[in-house]
Amino acid sequence: MAKMQVDALIKSIKLLKPLSATAQKVLKLLDDPDSDIEEVKDAILLDPALTADILRISNSAYFAFRQKITSVRHAIILLGRKVIKKIIFTAQMGPVFKHQLKGYPGQENALWEHSLVAAVAAELIAERLGYQDKEQAYITGLLHDIGKLILDPYVEKAQKEIETALKEGKNPLKVEKELFDYDHAEIGGLIAENWQLPSSIKEAITYHHSPTEANEEVMLALITYLADSLAVSVCPAGFVTKPSTEASLLSELGLTLADMEEITLRVLAAKEEISTLS
Ligand SMILES: [Fe+2]
Ligand SMILES: [Fe+2]
Repeated sequence: MAKMQVDALIKSIKLLKPLSATAQKVLKLLDDPDSDIEEVKDAILLDPALTADILRISNSAYFAFRQKITSVRHAIILLGRKVIKKIIFTAQMGPVFKHQLKGYPGQENALWEHSLVAAVAAELIAERLGYQDKEQAYITGLLHDIGKLILDPYVEKAQKEIETALKEGKNPLKVEKELFDYDHAEIGGLIAENWQLPSSIKEAITYHHSPTEANEEVMLALITYLADSLAVSVCPAGFVTKPSTEASLLSELGLTLADMEEITLRVLAAKEEISTLS
């Protein structure tokens, strides 16, 4: 791709609406073991939209707790810091993801639904594997394809070339890389870096199609890869490659195809609930 276009692409990464300033502050406080709940609550309450989102999402069918959550303080105490983080990312990413893609195939909201399904799947896989931070897996699953939002207008312009390449049986990711110098996974990684998300999240997004290339946090990359494969089978978005969950990879992780089937059933059961998040 011409240098000018690559520059424009990189610029659009920087312009992608980031997490709100309040959300960033709250996330920092949630990560800080020295912060107390009152501090977190006060920071959230400064932002009426975020406050409303937290109350709405924490009472949604997916997160629904045994009792109705009536205040932010209540939400933090009952759900805990890590769940509040998941809720904040879910709330903030809805408006970013929910727009009609023009280049990548898929109906309205297809990418958002795919992302939510991948988030839930990643958390369940992380739980099954005993991964130390299943909420981090959820967040990574939610964000894994965010690079597609940046590439979409370029994909739209290159529609014909892409169609031809895909018909020839080329790998969609390779086609992106050849045409735009970056594929959507690499762009997603750059977005995560730009948003100053933890490097493990950045790496897992960058390598969600080639998890064994990750060097720092292979496990999170593998979880995201498996979650994406599962999400492709349940709720595809974009150029769909045949989901390939190699049996050898699963057995290396101590998972079986039956485990993945069971997780898929749980994701399918949660799908209705997930749709209430948007
Ligand atoms: Fe992807
Ligand atoms: Fe995906």
